[in-house]
Amino acid sequence: MNDLDSLVLSAQDAFATAAQAAELENAKARFLGKGGRVTELLKGLAALSPELKKQRGAEVNQAKQRIEAALQARRDELAKAELDVQLKAEALDVTLPGRRRGTGGLHPVSRTMERIEAIFASMGFDVAEGPEIETDWMSFTALNNPENHPARSMQDTFYVDIKDADGRWLNLRPHTSPMQVRYAQAHARKHAGRDPMPEIRVIAPGRTYRVDSDATHSPMFHQCEGLWVGENISFKDLKVVFSDFLRQFFETDQLDVRFRPSFFPFTEPSAEVDIAFASGPLKGRWLEVAGSGQVHPNVIRNYGLDPERYIGFAFGMGPDRLAMLRYGVNDLRQFYEGDLRFLSQFK
Ligand code: PHE
Repeated sequence: MNDLDSLVLSAQDAFATAAQAAELENAKARFLGKGGRVTELLKGLAALSPELKKQRGAEVNQAKQRIEAALQARRDELAKAELDVQLKAEALDVTLPGRRRGTGGLHPVSRTMERIEAIFASMGFDVAEGPEIETDWMSFTALNNPENHPARSMQDTFYVDIKDADGRWLNLRPHTSPMQVRYAQAHARKHAGRDPMPEIRVIAPGRTYRVDSDATHSPMFHQCEGLWVGENISFKDLKVVFSDFLRQFFETDQLDVRFRPSFFPFTEPSAEVDIAFASGPLKGRWLEVAGSGQVHPNVIRNYGLDPERYIGFAFGMGPDRLAMLRYGVNDLRQFYEGDLRFLSQFK
């Protein structure tokens, strides 16, 4: 190996051991810089004879080119290594599971209420809401349920420590039936000049209260009132409308609907509405889902209408019960315990 080969080797060595760009540039200076070894060799050519100078010069130049090539190769290597380090540092781990934001959902009873509203709206019913704290007259007297009448105990409720204008305690409404009166009165006032008055067709869903608590009763529960009053509305219309609603609600025609004679002070005749499924776990069992009947003439009068002229029907159903049947829930209290493991099943 001649001196030039070993010079090239030691340059390659020095470059290879340089771990950083700055170190490499120092090594470069030692070989190719102003005072570097290659430069020294080139300077030394001046002392040689023309023939030797030509030969030696070509050899030194070749060595210089090899050193330059080695330098460039090492520069490229270091730049690539630096880039790799940077890429690694900035890398995204696409296999990490993302952070999810929990999505909410409607409560099963709210879903049921919306379903009831949508079905009745499609049959031309208005949807109305009213106060949960009621006067004695609205909750009872206007509904043909006079003071001291034993029928009041059917709807024993909570009272508020405030008296109304009649000197009676306000109550947490035990049913949505006061909304019959509120809505019908407003309707009668609004259409006072019209003959005949446009029909009343409304449902009124909302919260109701009673002193009751077991697997199928909660002190706060829901009802949805329905009222259809006009000049010629019969019990037959009630049967058609409510049966049709139930079949739409449960999405089945395989459903028996029974109107079982009953009593409510505000309807005459009155009926409980029972249903029985033709299949499924509850097959063949009669289940009560609503109270109903033809509105009592005294109640029509309290609407501000003439009972000789206007007639119709009302019903009051229990959305909680309907939600239990639709979703197969057997304890009503689960709806109100706020347990997400239970509630999130309905999302
Ligand atoms: N308000 C009655 C109840 O709470 C239900 C009902 C409403 C019955 C309308 C007849 C007509 O039990």
